[in-house]
Amino acid sequence: METDRFVRKIYLQKKRVGRRWHPRFTTGQKGTENPKRMYNEINLDEINLMQEPPAAEPGRQYYFMAKCRALVRELSGKLGRQPQACTKTFGCQMNARDSEKLTGILELIGYTITEDEHADLVIYNTCTVRENANLKVYGRLGVLGGMKKKQPHKLIALCGCMMQEPEVVEKIRKSYRFVDLIFGTHNIYKFAELLAACLEGDGMIIDVWKDTDKIVENLPVERKYPFKSGVNIMFGCNNFCSYCIVPYVRGRERSREPREILREIERLAADGVVEVMLLGQNVNSYGKNLPEPMSFAQLLREVEKIDGIKRIRFMTSHPKDLSDELIEVMASSEKICRHMHLPLQSGSSRILKIMNRRYTKEQYLALVEKLRRAIPDISLTTDIIVGFPGETEEDFEETLDVVRRARYDSAFTFIYSKRTGTPAAAMENQVPEEVVKERFDRLLALVQEISGEMAARLTGQTLPVLAEEVNSQDASLLTGRLSNNLLVHFPGDASLIGKIVDVHLQECRGFYYMGERY
Ligand code: SAH
Ligand code: SF4
Ligand code: F3S
Repeated sequence: METDRFVRKIYLQKKRVGRRWHPRFTTGQKGTENPKRMYNEINLDEINLMQEPPAAEPGRQYYFMAKCRALVRELSGKLGRQPQACTKTFGCQMNARDSEKLTGILELIGYTITEDEHADLVIYNTCTVRENANLKVYGRLGVLGGMKKKQPHKLIALCGCMMQEPEVVEKIRKSYRFVDLIFGTHNIYKFAELLAACLEGDGMIIDVWKDTDKIVENLPVERKYPFKSGVNIMFGCNNFCSYCIVPYVRGRERSREPREILREIERLAADGVVEVMLLGQNVNSYGKNLPEPMSFAQLLREVEKIDGIKRIRFMTSHPKDLSDELIEVMASSEKICRHMHLPLQSGSSRILKIMNRRYTKEQYLALVEKLRRAIPDISLTTDIIVGFPGETEEDFEETLDVVRRARYDSAFTFIYSKRTGTPAAAMENQVPEEVVKERFDRLLALVQEISGEMAARLTGQTLPVLAEEVNSQDASLLTGRLSNNLLVHFPGDASLIGKIVDVHLQECRGFYYMGERY
């Protein structure tokens, strides 16, 4: 994306005339501000709220966090208790990481965090990659509206990918008028500023930007697990696969500066994190547009050097950009996990071309072979779409053929979902539902048969497992993960959580192991 162009920002300003809203179009700021202070050095009590908010980020947001904190204190006085906030995440790891950023702010300004949607503030961080993700939100929103009748002070906020779709915002504005705040994926860093306006006023606030080239660093973040964390290395996507809405709702690809990524990981390591998951829609194209370009493999080499980090994962790899350099770095690494998620989408070169994936069946299979040769113990997982427009029985057979040859450890299989605005949605030859359903069942059966066989191949070995949590069904067991991402349940107590322990893999039960500490 051209860096010197001003981004267009759709700003529907809060201007109440009865309950009417007046859209206002403004231009956003460009460039990344250089933060003077680190987030953990800023003391909200030192911020003078009598002064005007600073213009530069992230200082501006800290000003609004201080303001929110004063407003939350006030609310707490009225309620006679600490207000509670609940964030629900739909969608992928990118959204999960965004929710951690929202939670970081909520904690800092004085909310108690809860999973219960009866909370005083509820945020839905939404996904729109497939229609059912979208429908789920509307269903649950109806329930929230019911709750709000009994809790009039309740605040309901919606953010995430769905909110980047103008039709969605329009529908909520008309039919879900009890919603207090709507914001998008590009201005999530402004959450404190928007929440302050919400806590002070009433009526719906909508702030959704069409795009941005801005990355705001050093905002607070509260991670879900003390010992592992996602780390965004890039935002957005430039690939425009013809079925996919993500490039439209997440904007153009922007890589974070390596020094910011490494500094964040160093801080995480100092805070007890042993595993990081580097996040991006296409991590293999990391760094291409940086002022000083850097490859993803080079970034991995740098992350590997950070003391305290024991495991490195990443998500997602696009096959078209997977380099030999990356395979070499993985093969020689002590820390990069033996797992590659390599979305196939379809095994038919004809369909792949219409999908705009920019690889063929043969190129994909050659890549799998190269990976398996260089890293024999690697676990391969994938995403597959069934019923893309025009998919014939022959095309589908090609997909089954790749599944048989690649022998995935697991695969996420999706029924094609028409997403308004994508090129595939306008294609005329949509596949009838019954045909798709039948193919989907056949694919699932094959995937499950192979993944069962693949999982079992480690039986009898003793391997390092990161203990992640107490087993939800049996409290005498811990649940952890192998380097290749498979789950292992083994006897142990909570003091081991966050530690990497050797576990003897005694029995494979389909998609997980039962083990014993060695
Ligand atoms: N950036 C990642 C994928 C992100 S979306 C990549 O390219 O690999 C996660 C998965 O959702 C995709 O891999 C794809 O399999 C699926 N998906 C995306 N759009 C879809 C649609 N319209 N219908 C069904 N599945 C879809
Ligand atoms: Fe969607 Fe393709 Fe981008 Fe993945 S690479 S997010 S499937 S457009
Ligand atoms: Fe969904 Fe947005 Fe992720 S559409 S899959 S939450 S990038």
